[in-house]
Amino acid sequence: MSEDAIAKFKEAQRQGWKHFAPLELMTTPTAARLVKHANVRAGQDVLDVACGTGVVAITAARVGARVQGLDLTPELLERARENARIASVEIEFREGDVEALPFKDATFDVVLSQFGHMFAPRPDVALAEMLRVLKPGGTIAFATWPPELLIGSSFRLVSGYMPPPPPGVSPSPQWGDIAIIRERLGAAVKDILFDRACMLVPALSVQNYRDHIEHTAGPMLKLVESLSASDPARLSQFRREYDALVAPYFENNIVRQDYLMTRAVKV
Ligand SMILES: C[S@@+](CC[C@H](N)C(=O)[O-])C[C@H]1O[C@@H](n2cnc3c(N)ncnc32)[C@H](O)[C@@H]1O
Repeated sequence: MSEDAIAKFKEAQRQGWKHFAPLELMTTPTAARLVKHANVRAGQDVLDVACGTGVVAITAARVGARVQGLDLTPELLERARENARIASVEIEFREGDVEALPFKDATFDVVLSQFGHMFAPRPDVALAEMLRVLKPGGTIAFATWPPELLIGSSFRLVSGYMPPPPPGVSPSPQWGDIAIIRERLGAAVKDILFDRACMLVPALSVQNYRDHIEHTAGPMLKLVESLSASDPARLSQFRREYDALVAPYFENNIVRQDYLMTRAVKV
């Protein structure tokens, strides 16, 4: 993949994710679960990769950790700084790319990413960076969407309606596959621990849920933007398929989004 294609891909990500802030309400409870899963403790140096509006970073800081957050999207970082100010915690948030982390080797005791590093185009590059900045004996932990469940399947549906990504871009839900995660982490880590949890998203109907996601989640937002302009009939078809995908997960005004958590210790 050419450097130019990678740069374009990341610019599209940056544009797509800039309206994500309202979804922080959904990722706030899961942030607490990830911080617990990673055993974050007071005094540790913690990095939240692809931090968005800072939900994981702020939760870790409230435990007493010294935290830094990094994300591609400046609009979300602005909100993260505001969230930290309101929570009265000191966190350094900076714009950056998980594939080129601006930190020295072995800086952090814990490196976290909630539904974040999975969107980097090259998993090997992103993971090598996350492990490089982690101290030996430190903990890497992340939350990801499994390919076979609602969010992984919806990413696949969305991709099917989009032009193909540049060659070499890895499908993000591969980060939700236990066998692939084991292979990627390989001999660089020990003590891998998986856990599953559920994000519960209130919604008045499947269509209300879709409407919310269309206005906030990067890949979906980009697709709807492009089909609205180019092919409204195809957009209607997409929406029918999307609603059918969500329907089995919708009950009692809740959409159930199950996900995977991974934790491992750097050797
Ligand atoms: C689904 S949001 C999750 C945000 C946050 N971690 C949370 O749980 O609320 C995905 C985030 O990944 C960020 N992102 C995507 N590609 C990235 C990259 N290459 N480097 C850093 N951040 C990236 C986006 O800007 C966005 O904030």
